[in-house]
Amino acid sequence: MNGGGDAPGLNAVIRGAVKYGVGGLHWQIVGIEDAFHGLMESPRRLQDLTMKTSQGLIHRGGTILGTSNRADPFAWPDGKGGTIDRSAELADAIRDEGLEGLICIGGDGSQHLSLRLMQEHGIPVVGVPKTIDNDLSATDFTFGFWSAVGVATEAIDRLHTTAESHDRVMLLEVMGRTAGWIALYAGVAGGADVIVLPEIDYDVDRICNTIRKRSERGRHFTIIVVAEGASPKSGEALPAARRHGRGHIVTGGAAQTLAMLISEQVHVESRVTVLGHLQRGGSPVPYDRVLATRFGVHAIDLIDRGQWGRMVRLRDGVVDSVPLAAAVTPPRVVDLDHPLLREAVKIGIELGAEI
Ligand code: F6P
Repeated sequence: MNGGGDAPGLNAVIRGAVKYGVGGLHWQIVGIEDAFHGLMESPRRLQDLTMKTSQGLIHRGGTILGTSNRADPFAWPDGKGGTIDRSAELADAIRDEGLEGLICIGGDGSQHLSLRLMQEHGIPVVGVPKTIDNDLSATDFTFGFWSAVGVATEAIDRLHTTAESHDRVMLLEVMGRTAGWIALYAGVAGGADVIVLPEIDYDVDRICNTIRKRSERGRHFTIIVVAEGASPKSGEALPAARRHGRGHIVTGGAAQTLAMLISEQVHVESRVTVLGHLQRGGSPVPYDRVLATRFGVHAIDLIDRGQWGRMVRLRDGVVDSVPLAAAVTPPRVVDLDHPLLREAVKIGIELGAEI
């Protein structure tokens, strides 16, 4: 089952698990469609995942099973504007289908739900961490992250040419919710002049000084990468930012806010690009394909050893696992001591504050 937003590499996990579990160990594996919806609706929507299903999947973005970030069995919409706990019904459906356990491929929210299913209803679960945001502390990297960074980096490259040709300030807003990982890595990879992160409230004066100083040096353009969760230190609310569910940011507004604040101080033409879901779509990059495949194989290994209640993860190049309870933690945000932040400052990237 997939849960939460899609990420490049979901199909590669499914493929790895099926090739090993079905092809190698001769198990039967079924996929649940659209997160828990496939089990909560009538008729139920399950797919037999066979060796044939796993063909041609490694490079495909999205997920053949579908997913949802609105499928919380503990708070299911009751149709009257409220929610009800339907988790017992879900656990019954799992048993009724003869499923011996659940592989949940998802981010922090989905892992939290599967942990509760195990703790409160005795459903055996194994977790596989997924999110383009890379904000799960239990793993060094989640698959999908490097694909998103690749798309964002290419976008910066493309913006550079127009920025330089037209002498403009180009602002690129990237995803990441409350974490600035995509902005930081893509910003460094794309040669951004300014990177603003949710972890560091920015001082617009510093950013305007950077634009002015660049201009004095004959660089009449500036590339600014803005994480969708970034805010000015003056504490002004993001005009267009709304949140839903477990604090997901629905729309941006962070780059538009910064553009507006800059225009109050510097007379320069600026343009905002919101990369949006482009960074979640399309083929996974090779790193994500490999990581996702390893995660799929290791999830099957955990089940084979009877090690339920754990989540696979990457630590120092090795794929191993941690108890799910230890994996479900608040989002891992960019630590102010992170070496890449320091290195970014050393090569002259402005972060909007002294760090
Ligand atoms: O968590 C992944 C993510 O893409 C975030 O980076 C983004 O804030 C959010 O999901 C967008 O969610 P939705 O697809 O529901 O708009």
